[in-house]
Amino acid sequence: MLAYRHAFHVGNPADVLKHIVLLGVLERMAAKDKGYWYIDTHAGAGSYQLSDRMAQRLAEYQTGIGLLWGRKDMPSSVAAYVKHIRTFNAGGELRTYPGSPALAGSMLRPQDHMRLFELHSTDFRLLDATWGQQSHVEVRHSDGFAGLKAMLPPPTRRGVVLLDPSYELDSDYGQLVASLRDAITRFATGVYCVWYPQLQSLESIRLPKRLKALSPAGWLHAQLSTAAPRPDGFGLLGSGMFVINPPFGLHESLKATLPWLARTLGQDGAGKHVLEGHTP
Ligand SMILES: C[S@@+](CC[C@H](N)C(=O)[O-])C[C@H]1O[C@@H](n2cnc3c(N)ncnc32)[C@H](O)[C@@H]1O
Repeated sequence: MLAYRHAFHVGNPADVLKHIVLLGVLERMAAKDKGYWYIDTHAGAGSYQLSDRMAQRLAEYQTGIGLLWGRKDMPSSVAAYVKHIRTFNAGGELRTYPGSPALAGSMLRPQDHMRLFELHSTDFRLLDATWGQQSHVEVRHSDGFAGLKAMLPPPTRRGVVLLDPSYELDSDYGQLVASLRDAITRFATGVYCVWYPQLQSLESIRLPKRLKALSPAGWLHAQLSTAAPRPDGFGLLGSGMFVINPPFGLHESLKATLPWLARTLGQDGAGKHVLEGHTP
């Protein structure tokens, strides 16, 4: 049974990194007229009210988007992200945080398509209520790893896949790598964005190396640490985004972003970042 609900964590530093990189990718996809498919294998509820009891319980958004709201000194990609979040918050007060489906959905053009997978019944219902009736969108109450296969390659031969599992099960790491290996075989030129948690576990530490080995045609790796390692070895240190076939210009745009985010979101001076890439 799935216990993870993204509503408890929404808007935290991990969402900030993930959504800045995702927006950077989608902006560059829209630079060409030809339509693309956006596929979100682990979509969540789509959008979140920060006054909701789940978001309020840990109030993680206060350590993420909340620290950026109202800042005047942001690098351009952070400023673009905050500006985008503001479009969901008429009146200027931070009340709503869009998840990846709402963010991506707001960027789609008539020629683009969106495919969303969500396994949790409640989050699926919320997602389907918002997106289920839109002609260019399909929402599925099924396993995103398995469902991805049948969608590749997309008919337009342009596509972005966000793989954002909850990593509740250790097997998620293996499934992620297997699913990506298969996806790249079917659609080698797709842009694949993988979010992962930075933990003191072997699976988490090894993941970037495993993803690099899958990406001979180019990759980008951005990691943002916001907390110091705990002596007991538990707890989230930060998170990473790994992009296979990153669009041109994304790496450059993140050069000022990552150090700034590490300074601004790092707790008690623990902020650190990694930004590396490979283009053959
Ligand atoms: C980290 S959340 C997604 C957050 C969302 N991508 C965003 O950025 O707003 C992960 C979601 O994946 C769902 N999930 C877990 N395993 C899944 C699977 N195999 N297929 C589809 N959804 C799954 C969980 O219920 C959860 O809602």
